[in-house]
Amino acid sequence: MVSHNITEEELKGKRRILFVCLGNICRSPAAEGIMKSIVDAEGAVDFAIDSAGTARYHIGELPDHRMRIHARRRGIELDHHCRQVTSIDFEDFDLVIGMDDSNLANLRRIAPSPEAERKILGMSAFFNKSTHYDYVPDPYYEGAEGFELVLDLLEEGCRNLYKAVSER
Ligand code: 4NP
Repeated sequence: MVSHNITEEELKGKRRILFVCLGNICRSPAAEGIMKSIVDAEGAVDFAIDSAGTARYHIGELPDHRMRIHARRRGIELDHHCRQVTSIDFEDFDLVIGMDDSNLANLRRIAPSPEAERKILGMSAFFNKSTHYDYVPDPYYEGAEGFELVLDLLEEGCRNLYKAVSER
């Protein structure tokens, strides 16, 4: 479990984390909700967790109702309001985590500096080695299994991400 452009040592203490997908109504707000629930359960302080989308389609909206229902079944309420990622986010966050290759390419396009670009990581860098996915698949045009798969991948990835950034 090593990410592409940052060492495990450098990950320690990186507590300002932005999750990014295309629409910011399915995958990234779910990642935000899951990561916040882990941070709360651990009693960890000084974390700033948020999410954003590369697209503008759904700005201001709550997450997709299907994702809200599936997350609620796992005890996670999603109340984020959709916003678009901007180059300022690279100042406000230590890690900018994309869900798939298209998200990562879009993030690299708006990263304002090489230093900012080094903050971009793929969520799959935090999957278990045995997991046969190297991205978080877009569930928007899928059925219930698509949403459950996303939540399974994100729970696994966020647990490993939390371990990677926590200093204990
Ligand atoms: P997300 O899913 O990137 O996980 O939020 C999508 C949401 C909306 C659309 C595409 C993907 N859309 O085309 O509106």
